[in-house]
Formats: sequence, structure tokens, C-alpha cells
Amino acid sequence: MMAQAADKAARSLIRDFNEVENLQVSRKGTNDFVTAADLRAEQTLKEELSRVRPGFGFLLEESGPVKAADGRSRWIVDPLDGTLNFMHSVPQFAISIGVEQDGELIAGIVFDPIKDELFWAEKGRGAFLNHRRLRVSARDKLSSSLVAHGRSADESPEARQRFMTQMNHVLSHTRDLRRMGSAALDLAYVAAGRLDGYWEDGLKPWDIAAGIVLVREAGGYLTAVDGSPVELERGSVLAANPHLHGQLHKALAGR
Ligand code: IPD
Ligand code: CA
Ligand code: CA
Repeated sequence: MMAQAADKAARSLIRDFNEVENLQVSRKGTNDFVTAADLRAEQTLKEELSRVRPGFGFLLEESGPVKAADGRSRWIVDPLDGTLNFMHSVPQFAISIGVEQDGELIAGIVFDPIKDELFWAEKGRGAFLNHRRLRVSARDKLSSSLVAHGRSADESPEARQRFMTQMNHVLSHTRDLRRMGSAALDLAYVAAGRLDGYWEDGLKPWDIAAGIVLVREAGGYLTAVDGSPVELERGSVLAANPHLHGQLHKALAGR
């Protein structure tokens, strides 16, 4: 049912993405257009998801929280993760939907409509890419690992300095870094074994809710960047395969 809702929202995102490619060469700019595309996708998701589970609440990026009638369950939705890519016609963005019940994440999907890749997971049932079961990578040497990261929304000079230092430390211990611009897909790629690890601070619950379930169910390990337990509201994530998580944590801290 999440997949059907995502599919419907994806159709409007794809239409709008094609339009953005045209707008790119005009002088009008794409900001307002992309904001409208984002809102359209969120509205579709809200309607579709409410229809299948009328009792569930919501945490929506654009329109905020809606209390659950059953007081237990909510959808955590990012209608467009990778907005800057979308705005620049870079085909790396996704719809992310997580399900939380009694404060625990129990399911999630991350859908990349351009590549038609549906990453999905349910607690206790595993993680999948379309019909294929997912496992995190087996790589155990940090020196041959490919690790992604994203830039925190915190623009302060301290945050920038921290981020440059982390990048520097990790660059000297890994094969290479990637900054692909969609936190939801970064986590999905860790689950799929495409990336060996990923870290970012300053994220929002809707960026990571679905991705957390994916990584866990694919056998990955997640904490906050400082090594403490990962918390949706804190938005700090360090995800990796179990061999590399500790090594990456140390590298980030410059040890
Ligand atoms: C952003 C993306 C990006 C991450 C940012 C997020 P948005 O979400 O996930 O990869 O680095 O922290 O805010 O704004 O495109 O939905
Ligand atoms: Ca996002
Ligand atoms: Ca978004």
C-alpha cells in the first residue's frame, strides 16, 4: 500500500522533473516550480495513505504533524528527498515513507522513481530492492570502502569546520567519498551493499525514518555520529556494515 501511494506521487514527480529540465535553460528559475512539485507529491501521498489507514497520524515534511486517531501509529513522509538534485535536473532523488508504531520504526520504503527502484523493509521480515533480498556489504577493510555523507543544514562556521575535519579524517582512511544529495537513498544504498557506510548530522526524521529500517533489516549497524543510539529527532546518523561501523566511527573522530 505504501508502494502504491509512492507510485502515484512518483508519476507527478516524474512529470515535474521533465518540466524542470526544460526550465533549466530559461531565466525564470526553478525554485517556485520545485516547491509546487514537492507539495503536489506530498498531497497525493497524504490522500493515498489516509485512504488505506485512516487511523494513522502523519509527520510530513511540508505540512507538519497530524495526530493519530488510534494514538499509536504514524507515517513519516518526505515527498521529495534530494530537492537540490531535482532542481538541477540531477536524477538522484526519492520518496521516503517510514511507519512508526508505539514509538518504534516498523517499516519503510524509499522509492527512486527515475531508476524504478523500490527499496522496502519490514521489521523482522528483511529488506528488499523490488523483489530481491538485500544485505549490507561484506567489505571489512575501511581502506577499500566507499562511504557517503551529506552536509548538515547547520550553516554555522563551527558546523562547517566540524564537517571539513570529519571529511578529512574519513578521506584518509577510505577508498573514496560520495555526496549524492539524498539521505534516504544514501541509507538505502548502504542497505543494498552499494555503499559501505554513510554519515550525516542535522537530519530530520523524514530523511531517515525509512532508511533506518532498511539498514537494520539488511544487517547493517546504525548509531548517531558520536556512537550513541540513533534517535529520529536528533537526526545524527552513522550507518555501516557491522565490520566497518566501529572503524568508521574511529576514523570520524580522528583516531
Ligand atoms: C536533504 C537531502 C540531503 C541531505 C540534507 C537533507 P531534502 O533533504 O536528504 O541529502 O544532505 O540534509 O535535508 O531537503 O532534499 O528533502
Ligand atoms: Ca529530505
Ligand atoms: Ca524533502
